[in-house]
Amino acid sequence: MDIKKVLVADAVDSACVELLRKYNIEVDCKYKLTEEQLSEEIKAYDALIVRSDTKVTPKVIQAGQRLKVIGRAGAGVDNIDVTAATNRKVVVLNTPGGNAISACELTCALITNLARNVVPASVSLKAGKWDRKLYAGHELYGKTLAIIGLGRIGKEVALRMQAWGMKTIGYDPIVSAEEAKEFNVEYLSYEQIWPKADYITVHTPLIPATRNLINAKVLNSCKNNVKIINVARGGIINESDLLDALKSGKCGGAGIDVYEQEPPTNEVTLQLIAHEKVVATPHLGASTSEAQVRVAVEVSEQLLALTGKCKEYTS
Ligand code: MLT
Repeated sequence: MDIKKVLVADAVDSACVELLRKYNIEVDCKYKLTEEQLSEEIKAYDALIVRSDTKVTPKVIQAGQRLKVIGRAGAGVDNIDVTAATNRKVVVLNTPGGNAISACELTCALITNLARNVVPASVSLKAGKWDRKLYAGHELYGKTLAIIGLGRIGKEVALRMQAWGMKTIGYDPIVSAEEAKEFNVEYLSYEQIWPKADYITVHTPLIPATRNLINAKVLNSCKNNVKIINVARGGIINESDLLDALKSGKCGGAGIDVYEQEPPTNEVTLQLIAHEKVVATPHLGASTSEAQVRVAVEVSEQLLALTGKCKEYTS
């Protein structure tokens, strides 16, 4: 494939640009473009590389008359209109492995924070209060963690939280019970999982089958005080139902990194973020120096493989 000019439209680690330039590919970095601006700019490029901020819409893809590849430095491709790209025979690449450890570690951090009230207790102490009773927590030892989605991230979460003494149960439509058993996850159906779980963490893509997966009906079939964690994608958990469950006390806390709308502006999401039992972070799952270098290199390597320019990256 003939790729001469690449546009990097989000802040991807410089390792991406360095590697492409090493193989004499011309690279420009232009960030925070509107759909209008990107549709104009894209006309001059053979490939586009994005992270999460840029939405690659049908309009952008249509305008890219030279466009042959869209690379996502990250796992999900939900900010790229894959149907529009496929219709125009534009290849869409992603880097599913590079972020896994970082997303897993943030998940574990949110679980441990929820158990011991680290964030609210710290905020309270900084505000001059000394409230030991209010922030008493519970042990994770002996508690049950349900992992929905047993791919790379789900598996890593299971292994780490088992070290804390948690029992791990889970479900994934494309992982077998035998495979799950290999990393000590008891494979159960959704109906069996909900009433058993003390903590539920989701590690699935956002697809029609997972949209609103955690909803009012599911929350009602959970144990009282269940904790919910989402470092995967906004929309997997119904934010309005989760907010109701937090208000009623059915849900005892939530750790949330991703939102239906990012950055969030709608009232429900803002109320959810502000809720005293919620630890909220601004989509930081992949935001570590290690993960960013990994995905930057991976996306460039895949692009180079397509050009056939360099033997070491040709699959
Ligand atoms: C991913 O899909 O891997 C992450 O959401 C990437 C990111 O944070 O940009």
